[in-house]
Amino acid sequence: MSSGWHSSAVNAFSSRPTSIILPSSQPSINIGSNDFYRQSRSQCCIRRHDIVGGSGVSSWALHSFINNNGSIDPMIDPLASPSRQQKLSQPSPSPSQPSQPSSSSSSSTAMKKKDLRTLQRFLEVECWKLPTIRSLDRTLLAVSDACKQINRIVQRAQTDDLYGAAIDPTTGQLAELNVQGECQQQLDVLCNTLMLRAFCGAANNAVCAVASEEEPLPRSCADVMGFNVGGIGSGSVINVDGGEGKYVAVFDPIDGSKNIDASLPVGTIFGIYRCPEGIDGDDAGWNIQSFLQRGTKLVAAGYCLYSATTVLVLTLGSGVHGFTLDPDRQTFLQTHPNMRIPDVGSLYSFNEANSRDYSEPVKEFLKTMKETGKMGGKKVSSRYIGALVADVHNILINGGIYGYPATRDNPNGKLRLLYESAPMAMIMEQAGGAGSTGYGRILDVLPPQPKKKRSSGGSASGDSSISDEEWNEEVGKGIHVRVPTFLGSVENVFELDQFHKYYGDDDKLL
Ligand code: F6P
Ligand code: MN
Repeated sequence: MSSGWHSSAVNAFSSRPTSIILPSSQPSINIGSNDFYRQSRSQCCIRRHDIVGGSGVSSWALHSFINNNGSIDPMIDPLASPSRQQKLSQPSPSPSQPSQPSSSSSSSTAMKKKDLRTLQRFLEVECWKLPTIRSLDRTLLAVSDACKQINRIVQRAQTDDLYGAAIDPTTGQLAELNVQGECQQQLDVLCNTLMLRAFCGAANNAVCAVASEEEPLPRSCADVMGFNVGGIGSGSVINVDGGEGKYVAVFDPIDGSKNIDASLPVGTIFGIYRCPEGIDGDDAGWNIQSFLQRGTKLVAAGYCLYSATTVLVLTLGSGVHGFTLDPDRQTFLQTHPNMRIPDVGSLYSFNEANSRDYSEPVKEFLKTMKETGKMGGKKVSSRYIGALVADVHNILINGGIYGYPATRDNPNGKLRLLYESAPMAMIMEQAGGAGSTGYGRILDVLPPQPKKKRSSGGSASGDSSISDEEWNEEVGKGIHVRVPTFLGSVENVFELDQFHKYYGDDDKLL
């Protein structure tokens, strides 16, 4: 009975290998060579002190991704890639399709492709339109290149010897715990380096300083790129931007990295702030107040999700746009223009194993939802992946609410305001949703400011009012501050906030 269908299906499948053309224009990569890693394992470890300790990142490439023939892998070193250099120096050729693959197979592959705008063209046009972000197009393109590289690295998690705890080559011991108290993985260090270089190495030097989940303190781009070494507010940092470096960037290079072992999704999150005008006491164009701003001051935010597809979601302050990585051409294409989250959704995404320790309003919210089987009038359903980017992306697409509430042990929850909650809240708001702490808008939360100010040029030698240790501790508190986080459809987040009004602590209302 089914033989007609079956035989035609078999025929269809048997003809597939000839009709599905594998990309022949794919750049070769060498991080798949296990032999290479085995041979040079001792050289392969990322030298954490090179990256974190302030002597630039150049040695990273040499110690990590020197090919068998001795050259640095162009897919891993964003600045060494000729195609990258070409992209940076030329506008994109057409509003939509990227250049065609050079192989003879291009015509049959191209026929299957949608006519989609490239990220590069999108950035050129958007940054040209908006004066507040005019000089950011190259930076964001460099960030998208870093995301492509992180994607390739993540995909090799099971096959390449690049995973496991980072080793400090000077001692042969495990590298230090990171600022979150977690053991740094080689992967964390590598992805951090890619993002540092993307923000600081872009041709126009729009970004002058960066703060990362993986770094205890913010760093000047001059320091990252190895031009000079200077502490925060030390006044000793040279301005390498020729007057253009007026932004600072914050990022979480590899969010949810525990998921990698189980081949589950992970992500990268970033935000960009403009340095406030007339900031005092620093000749590098930035100081700690450049970072410790409310999320309302973000000029751009985005995340990249490494999952069934790789998607870069971006807001430049006027809507949210999603770009899917075309695996054949390794080009981000605008697959989700003007993303809008449904006003109300049926998904909730919480780690309910912690619910015993949640605050009263959150407990009541979840209890009511489960008793009625409904949320926002819809039949409720639960999803939790355990990587913020993946969970939030799911909510953005399908509607509902993501939550990482305060718990008894962590009164501010787990997520970090600067490089997790605030960028996600900006994206949610720009897509028509909301981001709340339960007591107010996430974007209105001001990170804790250092209690004492350091005067101009202040350093250990220049200012006796506060020691370097005290200052660094204060700064670290502000950069890595946590905040209870609820993100999602406006009706669902509103409902959650109502439970805080009713059951919560009035003193906490923003
Ligand atoms: O960065 C923190 C993070 O890894 C998020 O990506 C994720 O949402 C969360 O922690 C998961 O935490 P837990 O395992 O406690 O649910
Ligand atoms: Mn994270």
